[in-house]
Amino acid sequence: MKLTYREAGSGTPPLVLLHGFPLNSQMWEPQLDALSAATRVITPDLRGFGASSAAPTPYSMSLLADDVAELLDSLELPRAIIGGLSMGGYVTFEFYRRHAVRVAALILADTRPDADTPEGRANRAKMADLVVKDGSRAISDEMLPRLLASATVRGRPGIVGKLRAMMEAATPDSVGAALMAMANRADSRDLLTKIARPVLVIVGAEDTLTPATEVSQWARHVSGVRFEVIERAAHVPNLEQPQTFNTLVGSFIEHVKHTQDHHQAE
Ligand code: MLT
Repeated sequence: MKLTYREAGSGTPPLVLLHGFPLNSQMWEPQLDALSAATRVITPDLRGFGASSAAPTPYSMSLLADDVAELLDSLELPRAIIGGLSMGGYVTFEFYRRHAVRVAALILADTRPDADTPEGRANRAKMADLVVKDGSRAISDEMLPRLLASATVRGRPGIVGKLRAMMEAATPDSVGAALMAMANRADSRDLLTKIARPVLVIVGAEDTLTPATEVSQWARHVSGVRFEVIERAAHVPNLEQPQTFNTLVGSFIEHVKHTQDHHQAE
């Protein structure tokens, strides 16, 4: 199995950023260089996306989490800050459930710990059928307007084009398999009160897929959480407002490093 990744910078703990659906590691381009000033940044293509191997059918979010643990093994990294956006967040929750000792801190962006509702699951099955029938274009037409703030759709054709290209590069098989893996994911709400690590939760103020009000509700259950809302952004604030996103994550990395040094000194 081949897992491809991009990386930049150096430092401990490293930061691993997991992309959303149906995107790939390119979505973290605005983070890779900017955050490499703070630490080593690693952005994998999750199985089935980017240049990584195709995913088996069916598969699960836990397989994706185990892939990330294997990547850390192969890079000889005992611990990392694990961050994920949306589907990447589902994988991040699963990573914490399965590999907590390897987690220095968590970043959860535009995501939720809940499993899908029965209605959500039925929608995924419909989408999976549509993608197999009409190709990945069907998913980009459906998702693009819902991912971005209306001002981004109107005035930032570069971002729209970049997202469309990532979505249409995903094969219908991978898209369908990821939809079903998300539909069958575990409920992670039980983890929220158990997370004993620094946690940064970020959401775009105009996110309609994981609305800020909903994210603030679940984030409250995480002890000591940093919760940040990014204005003029929707579901992909790292692309829509990269400077704000990078400032928040950069300051969180400093906080994690400081906490870690403090523990080591004790
Ligand atoms: C994502 O951005 O990764 C998706 O919106 C997640 C989902 O469909 O649940």
